[in-house]
Amino acid sequence: MSIHPRLALEEIALPIRQDNDAIRVTVMGDTGNGKSFILEKITRYLVAESLVGTAFVLDDKRMDPQYAGHYRIDVADMHAKPPMGPPPVTVFRGTKLAGGRPIDHEAVARLAMDLCVKRAITSVVVVDEFGRLISSPQQWERPDSKWREVFREGRSLIPRSQRRAGLACGVSVLYSSLSPQDPPRDAIEQTDRIVLCGIAGLGLRHLQRVHSLPDELVGAVGNFKRGEFAVHRRGVSRWDGRIYGPSWA
Ligand SMILES: Nc1ncnc2c1ncn2[C@@H]1O[C@H](COP(=O)(O)OP(=O)(O)OP(=O)(O)O)[C@@H](O)[C@H]1O
Ligand SMILES: [Mg+2]
Repeated sequence: MSIHPRLALEEIALPIRQDNDAIRVTVMGDTGNGKSFILEKITRYLVAESLVGTAFVLDDKRMDPQYAGHYRIDVADMHAKPPMGPPPVTVFRGTKLAGGRPIDHEAVARLAMDLCVKRAITSVVVVDEFGRLISSPQQWERPDSKWREVFREGRSLIPRSQRRAGLACGVSVLYSSLSPQDPPRDAIEQTDRIVLCGIAGLGLRHLQRVHSLPDELVGAVGNFKRGEFAVHRRGVSRWDGRIYGPSWA
């Protein structure tokens, strides 16, 4: 029996609600199985529930945007034309906007960290396709990548005295990856929830090895239809048996 995906959103956001901890969530699955669709839902939920102050999305994969928000080429364009009004979501479209250029990914990581440290504004950064941040499997685009700092140190940045109940106190990260072997160890070890869409073959074998997934989950995920997914808490040895979706109605 399918379970309403809204419940998955609550499970994913639990560390924020319980402990103010920013979250690290990866969405994995074969192409076309709904990774971006789910990332968009999680982003929208975190913003609507005020669990984060703002969202920055890397969405330069397709000609048509996959996320709603204020469209800007990159961080420099955002500073030149500060977004006004709701939703508090800035979508970086890079070369896909008229007059665009490739997005400087480091600038996005720096922006999210600086806003939190200097102005206590929390955010979620959404990396739709992790491949953007690496030069080859498990290698950050640059050895001194700011993204490493985001993953390792960005979870808890606001002092206790300044925290607000139910609001993350650091930079949250949502990322998708077609290839489970791509993210560097820093990213994998800091990931607290793995959202699994349908995945089979080599991708599934890598996923099992990299994330030590429970056997019953590995057995099930190869049969998921488009839009169905499971949520695995990293480090937990058993799967809860829940298959969410595909309908959000
Ligand atoms: N639960 C769902 N209900 C309805 N439509 C869905 C659902 N999940 C995905 N889709 C649709 O299926 C198509 C493929 O989904 P999506 O683009 O999210 O896949 P993806 O895994 O991100 O693919 P890619 O690896 O190519 O980026 C999209 O048109 C999306 O809107
Ligand atoms: Mg996608």
